[in-house]
Amino acid sequence: MNDIYTPEVYISEEEIARRVLSLATSITKDYANSELVVICVLKGAFIFCSDLIKKIQLPLQLEFLAVSSYGDSQVSSGRVRLEMDLTCSIEGKHVLLVEDIVDSGLTVNYLKTLLLARHPASLKLATLLYKPSNLKYDVQIDYLAFEIEDKFVIGYGLDYAGRYRELPFIGILNAGH
Ligand code: PRP
Repeated sequence: MNDIYTPEVYISEEEIARRVLSLATSITKDYANSELVVICVLKGAFIFCSDLIKKIQLPLQLEFLAVSSYGDSQVSSGRVRLEMDLTCSIEGKHVLLVEDIVDSGLTVNYLKTLLLARHPASLKLATLLYKPSNLKYDVQIDYLAFEIEDKFVIGYGLDYAGRYRELPFIGILNAGH
């Protein structure tokens, strides 16, 4: 790699781990005695979801959905594209949708409509980040790790133009990236 980049730490690995454990503990309590299907929304949620399910003390089924609306841009295209669908029926199942960030709310709004039409027993949302400054849709978040300021964040699954997902912390790009 030729260019030097130095993302500033916005939320540390330790802070993330503490919140992930706290959410997992609540989820374990709330879903005791239910059969849970966890849906990881690719790509951004893959690290959060992976850490979260390791701390949920319940048997669960893991599914993936891939959607995209940002492409390589920092601004949403305003349209969500379903790029990969579930591999099983969620009818009558308790479903937990896991996202990395609720920004405008467009993606979650789209996914909730899509999934509710498949008649799950329940549908809840867990998200790592929520950026209220940009919200354009009415979104109910059931499990939230961090509410954040209006900054473009990367790392811990989140990308800028396909990069930085592998960072173990949530960072902010400095000028000149
Ligand atoms: C990002 C993120 C959320 C969505 C949030 O996905 O992972 O799914 O945007 O933004 P919204 O609330 O404005 O809809 P992106 O389209 O960048 O795809 P990715 O997860 O593959 O990075």
